[in-house]
Amino acid sequence: DDVQPLSKKGLCESEPHLTYPSISNPPQVKPVPFQQPTFLLTFSYTPSHELVWNDSAMRHYVDPPPGAELRYGYERWIKRPEERGRIDSLLKAWTRARNMYGGMPGIGVVSWRGVITKILTAPYQERDGWDLNVMYLNGTLYFEEHASEEQIKENENMNPRQRTQTYYGYAFESWCTSSKPDRPESLPNRPFGWGGDVDTNVQWCNVVKTKLGDFRMVIGGEVDCIRERIVGEKKDAFVELKTSLAIRDQRAEARFEKKLLKFYFQSFLLGVPEIIVGFRTPPGRLTTVQSFKTIELPRLVRGKPGAWDPQLCLDWGQRFLSYLKGVIQQTPPKDGQVWRVRFAPGKGVSISVLDGEGVRDVEAGEDRVGFLPRWFWEEETE
Ligand code: A3P
Ligand code: MG
Ligand code: MG
Repeated sequence: DDVQPLSKKGLCESEPHLTYPSISNPPQVKPVPFQQPTFLLTFSYTPSHELVWNDSAMRHYVDPPPGAELRYGYERWIKRPEERGRIDSLLKAWTRARNMYGGMPGIGVVSWRGVITKILTAPYQERDGWDLNVMYLNGTLYFEEHASEEQIKENENMNPRQRTQTYYGYAFESWCTSSKPDRPESLPNRPFGWGGDVDTNVQWCNVVKTKLGDFRMVIGGEVDCIRERIVGEKKDAFVELKTSLAIRDQRAEARFEKKLLKFYFQSFLLGVPEIIVGFRTPPGRLTTVQSFKTIELPRLVRGKPGAWDPQLCLDWGQRFLSYLKGVIQQTPPKDGQVWRVRFAPGKGVSISVLDGEGVRDVEAGEDRVGFLPRWFWEEETE
């Protein structure tokens, strides 16, 4: 009885609605199998944000200099303009992977990692809602984050404080990475250890295949760097880098533990086994660096004030996907149909069909069918 009308919540009564598990009174869930992600391919974005099929943007982990200044280089930050998080590159990568490996039937979900992280962590999300666009084609669900024009503008016009704090995260990446393995960067006119000025156009991405319950998924996302270490057969291991305020009291510790949920899924979904957190002072000086093993995080937070249970998220994620697919399959199919999924904290998820104007907004005057690029649509429907 997940489906209930939303009459009291001010949303359309006829909209299908899925409630999510209460975290204050968590249900007993059966563990949902989640397959260890397997690697499909990597690609890079160049400084002009062009997609290239190589590892030119791949970085190696190096220890950052003690007390590194995360404000360093702020004025030289080349900031990629805010834009709609389109799925195009992932579709290119997936198409390429299918050509390389020959087919790959039965993929139930294709999405960027950020979207899947949002879905899975929703039960613990108390503040921020989100909207997704969804399309269903030949048995596969495609997801795209839906940001309104206002939201995009808001992100573009971040206040100086937010902007500086966002920069700290990128500066940490620069202090922690090098173009050469195991050796800090030494660049002309730059302090030793600085990995290069921040250009957020440049990204290294990994595409993996995995399975949550019955859903085979293809997921893509950015990987911050790799660390070479030989563990059995596996040689290079991916690393996720994060910054966080140094923990000074128990409340801050609980806040950090809560944040680990997002770090966990973000990393777990791409098969990133290690998360390196740079703790900093409020004005951006690095204090300590701590490495966490992704798979150990659930146990680390268990029983703590900021605890979370990944099983609850996976169970919810599988129910979310089944429910969404069910609603879509019950509706007569229409070419290019786009669905809008809205998550409201404390309320749950509602699903609606986008109308003509909504679809035009999603297409944004580009050569698309719904939000899928036309070339992909044609390949899939020919
Ligand atoms: P930190 O989160 O380490 O502080 P990611 O951690 O996903 O690799 O992202 C790198 C940095 O990009 C983040 O550093 C943060 O500064 C910025 N960033 C990522 N997602 C963001 C978001 N939704 N809003 C603002 N900044 C974000
Ligand atoms: Mg990153
Ligand atoms: Mg990171």
